[in-house]
Order: sequence, then C-alpha cells, then structure tokens
Amino acid sequence: MHKILKNVDKVVFGRGSFSQLDEIIEEKRADHDHFMVFLVDKFFEGKPLADKVPVRPEDVLIFVDVDDHEPTTQQVDEIRDNVKKEKGIPSGLIGIGGGSVMDIAKAASLMFTNEGSSSLYQGLNLIKNPGIYHVGVPTISGTGAEVSTTAVVTGPEKKLGLKCEWTPFNQIILDSELISDVPKNQWFYTGMDTYIHCIESETGMYKNTFSTAYGDASLALCRDVFKGENCGQTPENDDKLMVASMMGGLSLTYSEVGVCHALSYGLSFVFGYRHGIANCLAFNHLEDYYGEAVQEFKGMVAQHKIELPKNLADSWTEEQITQMAEVAYNLDHMWKHALGLDWKEKLTLDTIKDLYRRL
Ligand SMILES: [Fe+2]
Repeated sequence: MHKILKNVDKVVFGRGSFSQLDEIIEEKRADHDHFMVFLVDKFFEGKPLADKVPVRPEDVLIFVDVDDHEPTTQQVDEIRDNVKKEKGIPSGLIGIGGGSVMDIAKAASLMFTNEGSSSLYQGLNLIKNPGIYHVGVPTISGTGAEVSTTAVVTGPEKKLGLKCEWTPFNQIILDSELISDVPKNQWFYTGMDTYIHCIESETGMYKNTFSTAYGDASLALCRDVFKGENCGQTPENDDKLMVASMMGGLSLTYSEVGVCHALSYGLSFVFGYRHGIANCLAFNHLEDYYGEAVQEFKGMVAQHKIELPKNLADSWTEEQITQMAEVAYNLDHMWKHALGLDWKEKLTLDTIKDLYRRL
C-alpha cells in the first residue's frame, strides 16, 4: 500500500510575511466561539516579536515554556483544558515558535475536538474528530514540524506522535526574518535535524523518487547553509534553511526516518535532550549505518566549532541504557525502514544498548 500524503493546505513564504497573519486568520474568526489562541514560545515574552502578534481583545495569548524539555501530552492537555474552561472552543490556534511549539499547536488543535488526554491518541489514526483550524509560524528551522503529518509529544509511557490526516497545519507562514536571531548552537543542531532527515529518508526501504527528490533539494540547500565559503547565519542562508526544513520534512514524510531518530527518541525520553542535539549526539557515532554522511556531518561540526558533548555513557546507569534501548526498539517503523522487514533478525536490544554506549 502506498501512503496518502496530507500536505499543509496553504503556504506563505517570504521575508516579512508574518505581517500578513492577521489578514490570513480573519476569515476563520467566525468559527466556533469567536476567538483565536496564540501559542508563542516563552523565549519571545517581552521581545519585539511578541508585540507584533495580532492579538485582539477576545483572543488568548499563551507563552509556552519549551525551554528545558520536549513537548509533553500534559502540556497539551493543560492548554486545551484551561482554554476550554475559560472561553470554549477557539476559532483557530496559531503556533509561533520552534519545532516544539509547532508540535504542541498541532496536537492541541486536535484535542479541542477529541475527549480525554492526548496520551490516548499517540499513534496512527487514533484521533476520531477533525481538529480546529491551525496555523504554524516557525521561528527556528530544521525540524520539518511545520509540514510533517505528526505532532510528536512525550507522554507518560512513550514519545510518539499524534498522526492523522487532520494533524498537518491548515496554513504555514515561512518568514525567514523570524529565524535570524536563533542562537548558533540551536541553529546548528536544529539545522542538522533537516540534514539527518534527508540522509535517513534516502537510506532505507521506504525511499522512493518522490521523497528522494525533496531530500536531494533539501540537502543541496543544507550544504549551502552549513558548508563552504558562504555558509553561516546570513539572510540568504536563512531563506535557504527555511525551505530546506520544509523539503526535508516532506522527504521524511513520504519515506521514513531511521537509526538516528530511533536512538534520539530514547535519549529525549530518558534524559529530556532536545530533539536536534539528541540527533547530533547519536548521528556522530553512526558511521556503520550512514558512512560518508557521518563524515560530512563531522566536517560541519568542525567548521562551525560546535562542541558536541562526549563520553556521556560513562555516567549512565545500566537501567537508563536499557530504558533508552527499549524506547528505541519499539520504533518498529524506523528500524524496518533502515534495516529491512527482517530487522529483528539483524538487531537486538543488546545491539541498541551498545550503540548508546558509544555516546
Ligand atoms: Fe527530526
């Protein structure tokens, strides 16, 4: 069976396009209980961007704290419960921030119309009713969360996305001016998420012409941004990274991620590492699986003088390593893509534990 790709409905791309947000959401204001909810990364509280958010008196503005952990089902449930109790069902929800805010916005948009905790819906097609109108405005590029068909959240039992045809945004606004001030480390780690999406998407059994075309285009842009004489954080490269992130997201959506993402999910679940750095920590040791791409990655790490933490496994307990390995092992779809349908014959829980011990 071939996948049915549900794309984002509408895309605006261009420097300064964030100023069109008010006009874009206007036509939706008549829906449900006639107010909008803006979920904005707490990082922007008190900063100029917060003043530019087109909040009207009836609207709700929530600064979301995603500073030291990955988005949780509890966070999503609280946003839904509080807003619903105070004001009812919003006409729409606008997420402004990095990948974590994108994921929270996508998940919350579904939870306004589905009963119970979001942890009940972690998986494929478990959502029963279409969510509310939702808009994504990325302020960091690389996760592909602006276009991906899943809202990745960490619940009490697992880190797994809410994935259904209503998850993708109805509208995204890609304004590369918004990513110009991303701190260098975050810029690098999150950008590498895109690079790794494409490498993994193009290396495995689900790869196909569609996903590879997006992957190749995204990789070419990533190389402009992170390699060579014109690399670095420039306005032109911000444009490129924003498009690379989107294309990398489409590439992985129509193929699959692999070994690095499986290990990364374990790292985030047990130690709370943010997705971008967790990927980099794992990818750095995956030459057996991704060969030359790992060499290229190391070159980019060196070029940008990124200090990747080392010898982490020295301080991990056997119990923590086992827990991470179990989280990773359960990501059947990623291993299947990377190693084939018979992946369980090629890899055991102990192999995964050994991979973690390399870190
Ligand atoms: Fe990723």
